[in-house]
Amino acid sequence: MTTAAKPQDAHDVKDLALAVEGRRRVEWAERSMPVLRLIRQRFEKEKPLQGRRLSACLHVTTETANLAITLKAGGADVALCASNPLSTQDDAAAHLVKDHGIAVYAIKGEDHETYYEHIRAALAHRPDVTMDDGADLVGSLHMIALGRMDDLAPPVRTWVESLSKDARAALVKGVIGSTEETTTGVIRLKAMAKDKVLQFPVIAVNDSDTKHLFDNRYGTGQSTVDGIVRATNLLLAGSTVVIAGYGWCGRGVANRFRGAGADVIVTEVDPVKALEARMDGFRVLPMADAAPLGDVFVTLTGNVNVVRVEHMRRMKDGAVVANSGHFNVEIELEGLKKVAKGPREVRAFVDEWILDGKRVNILAEGRLINLAAAEGHPASVMDMSFANQALGAEYLLKHAASLSKDVHRVPQELDREIARLKLAGMGLGIDTLTPEQQHYLASWDLGT
Ligand code: NAI
Repeated sequence: MTTAAKPQDAHDVKDLALAVEGRRRVEWAERSMPVLRLIRQRFEKEKPLQGRRLSACLHVTTETANLAITLKAGGADVALCASNPLSTQDDAAAHLVKDHGIAVYAIKGEDHETYYEHIRAALAHRPDVTMDDGADLVGSLHMIALGRMDDLAPPVRTWVESLSKDARAALVKGVIGSTEETTTGVIRLKAMAKDKVLQFPVIAVNDSDTKHLFDNRYGTGQSTVDGIVRATNLLLAGSTVVIAGYGWCGRGVANRFRGAGADVIVTEVDPVKALEARMDGFRVLPMADAAPLGDVFVTLTGNVNVVRVEHMRRMKDGAVVANSGHFNVEIELEGLKKVAKGPREVRAFVDEWILDGKRVNILAEGRLINLAAAEGHPASVMDMSFANQALGAEYLLKHAASLSKDVHRVPQELDREIARLKLAGMGLGIDTLTPEQQHYLASWDLGT
């Protein structure tokens, strides 16, 4: 790896020769991202991010490449690292370095140490603004701010310890604010705000309607099914699929599996969501009762140890277990390693374990299956998520002085504008309120 000051020299990617294929695929994704295109065109003229250093820790996909290109068009000096060791598309990473001079630190399949070495490189970029997908970058910054060196991954810790006290303080103080892409990251950041340790304002991109309603539901819905099918080539029609968690992602995945002819069972801990799943026509069961019935299990809860060894012991021989929640903590893999024999890689992204004489197939080491075994969300849905990221960063820089050290939403008018632009991009028109309707909706004195 080189770490020279010039972005085009600073990178760690698999192979720059992949840039040709990366360019083709990034351009293909761009065709389905009309909202981000409009933002990029405006950014090119107005340069709202001029002179700002921006470090992003996101899944390095073709869609993210289009976001990085947009941020650069806005004047930002961008460094990009992966937000998951298995989600990087090496060709997209190579294209960003070679053709756009963007500093990318990401290699698909990188080990834990390299993952954090890449986060270190993004921190060493000394960002004014950070972007996260799961809060690993901001999490590290906060451990530095709080002097919790033991909680830093070794590559970050060694580097931080080599910095003077003033340099450490300047690193944290230099950050004007951050944006966060996913539910799990927002939960972590809200916990930091509650504990009054959040060091700067954060924009929760995930909380925009034009993000979670579409990306989490339709994006995760389609790409999770895609990842499981690519990894296993199982026939979905007639199979029984157990979905843990009926939140935005779970709803999407359950519906896509049903559409493919599977018999879907939902497990939940929230009574309202469980009721909703039942009234949407799904069977609802506790995991212990669903375990003997399922052919495929998918966790989408953002929670820990949702599918445990006690459940895997009850599963059929050959059951497939996958996760599409942010972290690889939803399946109790550490427990499985202690009591089962394996793993044996029986296909790419499929590890077979023998538990009580039966086979349990764990996909992609329990990491998010849609990004590990497939390509992540389709570009059309990331168009809205990343429009929120780009506009969120611009908003943060404009309003940082007045934003409290808390978790904020992208303003509703920007959220609605993204929806309007998306509809226009899809060639869809909608009605507008007549003056009479506006008056009616604003009045309280008209009755039966
Ligand atoms: P959400 O908060 O809308 O839904 C999570 C659901 O899981 C809730 O209904 C909750 O009651 C349920 N749950 C929690 N513990 C459970 C347990 N032990 N058993 C069964 N259900 C349980 O969150 P959302 O937006 O659906 O996100 C879920 C996860 O997916 C998060 O980690 C998020 O960061 C991640 N995510 C992954 C994406 C991907 O590309 N794979 C894309 C977007 C989000």
